[in-house]
Amino acid sequence: MRNFLIAGNWKMNRNAAETATFFNELSADLKKVPNGVDVLICPVYTSLQAAVETSSKINGFKIGAQNMHFEDSGAFTGEITADMIRETGADYVIIGHSERRQYFAETDETVNKKTIKAIDKGLIPVICVGEHLSERKENKHFDVVKHQVVEAYKNVATGDVSKTVIAYEPVWAIGTGETATSEQAQEMHRFIRSEMEKLYDANTANAVQILYGGSMKPENAGELLECEDVDGGLIGGASLKPDSFLKMIKTASELKK
Ligand code: PGA
Repeated sequence: MRNFLIAGNWKMNRNAAETATFFNELSADLKKVPNGVDVLICPVYTSLQAAVETSSKINGFKIGAQNMHFEDSGAFTGEITADMIRETGADYVIIGHSERRQYFAETDETVNKKTIKAIDKGLIPVICVGEHLSERKENKHFDVVKHQVVEAYKNVATGDVSKTVIAYEPVWAIGTGETATSEQAQEMHRFIRSEMEKLYDANTANAVQILYGGSMKPENAGELLECEDVDGGLIGGASLKPDSFLKMIKTASELKK
């Protein structure tokens, strides 16, 4: 009932020319996003326009930003608004990635403000949550993730939840080559869905896409996507090459059949 979402987070990689090359290569093998699968790439801001233009050869392909400010304008040097992102033709925005929480002072409060602003401006926020290794070792991972989810969704109306996506990204699995097992992923995704049911209701919780992120790649995408509550991936390193990204799109489309 839920579409998969295969999402690439390019982080600080790929300039505009490289972005165009990526989509020219990808569109040679992919003309249309498969049924039952949503596909998204989030490049750097200066590559957004090129991504929107060159991905338009692939029917249904979506583009997103990696961050935004929660204000509409003002003296915030180096920041960008939701409207400016929309103006490029992008439809999604990643909010609260662990690298932003870790290096750029993103807090649960700013994640919440950005989530509300994104929804208000018609951008779909991909809200990132996930525990550090020390928190998992101390068996605090459920508490940590619950807190992040509850704070992110403060004052988000029931009817707006379907315009959001959650990404569970255990920090210890990001860029490390270490992936959560499918059991660990399913356990946390189920937990997040049950918390969403408590915050909202069963229908709302069942409709929201929950992505797994952290060293997802063609070799492990299948077993992760087979989990009942894993609705896709937020993929860093393995989304940078067209062939590897395409393999994961194909894996998702096979599972939908
Ligand atoms: P990774 O990054 O796939 O390179 O681990 C995932 C992410 O940070 O979103």
